[in-house]
Amino acid sequence: MKQAKMILDRAYEIGRIDPRIYGSFLEHLGRAVYGGIYEPGHPTADELGFRQDVMEMVKKADVPVVRYPGGNFVSGFNWEDSIGPRDQRPRRLDLAWFTTETNQVGLHEFCEWCKRAGTSPMYSVNLGTRGADAARNVVEYANHPSGTYWSDLRRKNGQEKPFDIKLWCLGNEMDGPWQMGHKTAYEYGRTANEAAKLMKWVDPTIELVACGSSNSDMPTFGDWEYTMLSECYENIDYVSLHRYYGNPTGDTPGFLARAMDMDDFIKTVVCICDSIKGKKHSKKKLNLSFDEWNVWYHSAAQDEEIKKADPWGVALPLLEDIYNFEDALLTGSMLITLLRNADRVKIACLAQLVNVIAPIMTRNGGGCWAQPNYYPFMQVSKYGRGTSLRAIVDTPTYDCKDYEKVPLIDATATMDDEGNVTVFCVNRDMQEDFNLTVDLRDFGKLRVEEHILLKHADVNAVNTEEQPFNVAPTQGPGGKVDGGMAEIHIPALSWNVIRLVKA
Ligand code: AHR
Repeated sequence: MKQAKMILDRAYEIGRIDPRIYGSFLEHLGRAVYGGIYEPGHPTADELGFRQDVMEMVKKADVPVVRYPGGNFVSGFNWEDSIGPRDQRPRRLDLAWFTTETNQVGLHEFCEWCKRAGTSPMYSVNLGTRGADAARNVVEYANHPSGTYWSDLRRKNGQEKPFDIKLWCLGNEMDGPWQMGHKTAYEYGRTANEAAKLMKWVDPTIELVACGSSNSDMPTFGDWEYTMLSECYENIDYVSLHRYYGNPTGDTPGFLARAMDMDDFIKTVVCICDSIKGKKHSKKKLNLSFDEWNVWYHSAAQDEEIKKADPWGVALPLLEDIYNFEDALLTGSMLITLLRNADRVKIACLAQLVNVIAPIMTRNGGGCWAQPNYYPFMQVSKYGRGTSLRAIVDTPTYDCKDYEKVPLIDATATMDDEGNVTVFCVNRDMQEDFNLTVDLRDFGKLRVEEHILLKHADVNAVNTEEQPFNVAPTQGPGGKVDGGMAEIHIPALSWNVIRLVKA
């Protein structure tokens, strides 16, 4: 058995974990909304058409915030289409995904779904085909109490009290040529600044996320952040990051190392934010919203066929990646990366929530099940609350195509407000188990309460409606704590949650 060591100390804090790092994302895309959260006539649907089987799984994952309605979709979206009597709402061509949007779920329905699912909205405004005027109007509609055109229209549409949406995105991926209303960094920075100003004049309590790069491989990455932040730094609260990884060549060690790229991406954006702070002699520290992260590649080929077979179809089964066991391991490492950067990453959204590159899958009229990546997401959301600890991990490493010195044990730890510690750990070693020693001497008497393990003999193993628990957590081998030193057995190629509670 190989050996690794983790040293923890109450004084080594990264920072307080903002629960919003366990957010997710629902776009008007594919079957995320129609057939995902909403399916009137489904046996589990409530009186508004919301699937209760899906809602239960969302509640179980305790998702504090859900980004909506896009994504690329939002850059051609008229928010006014999504309010008022449903039979009068227009059907529109969606030029992001080449489908038809029926607008049967809109602002009111989404806010109501959030309430019922125990989450809160992170609402995106269209800065692609529209701009500051539409943006300030939707804030007035959603958040102003009464006595104006838009707020009274909300009341007339059945919502007396403001929705009080606190978190707003200033457009989506505006650096991407695929985006409706694609802009240069300067154009976007100016547009975002003016929209932000007006939106905050309507409601000064809101927080705003400006679009960073669509991913760190964009040729404009770095320059985009620097230029656009130079224009809008003082009026926004967060800058966004988006990143998806794939493993089309079946290189598991290389794929599992991709979390290192995520870490590098975060640290680079932090540096750029701080350089703007310096340049502007500003007192304000800008934080990060990693509001799209996941694995995405399994569905790419089939999506082309689906669109060809039904051009402009409604709620087509697009981006339905079937995730496997190794995807769940990378999800674990990406969550660990978010925790390690909890001092600056205050919001993050697993993209997306249901059916579309999602941890939760459904069949129209049928069942609902968890993909393998649901488990690390749900478990870190449940147990990774409180303070993120700066874990010092001494572990053997490996080299792969894109990275050198990849830690075989990728691990971190959190401490809740009662002083209980949770260790999250991916063993990237394909063959060997580890004995992980955790130095807990600074935490008083702790015992191993639970060791949750996710492991499968086949990295390509998946869950289906027929076999929903093929990849599912089991009880791990655990370990013991003696004199403040824990010894934990970490099986080869596995995801682990070790809960250490007051003895
Ligand atoms: O999440 C799917 C798409 O990925 C989003 O619409 C877009 O923002 C990103 O490119």
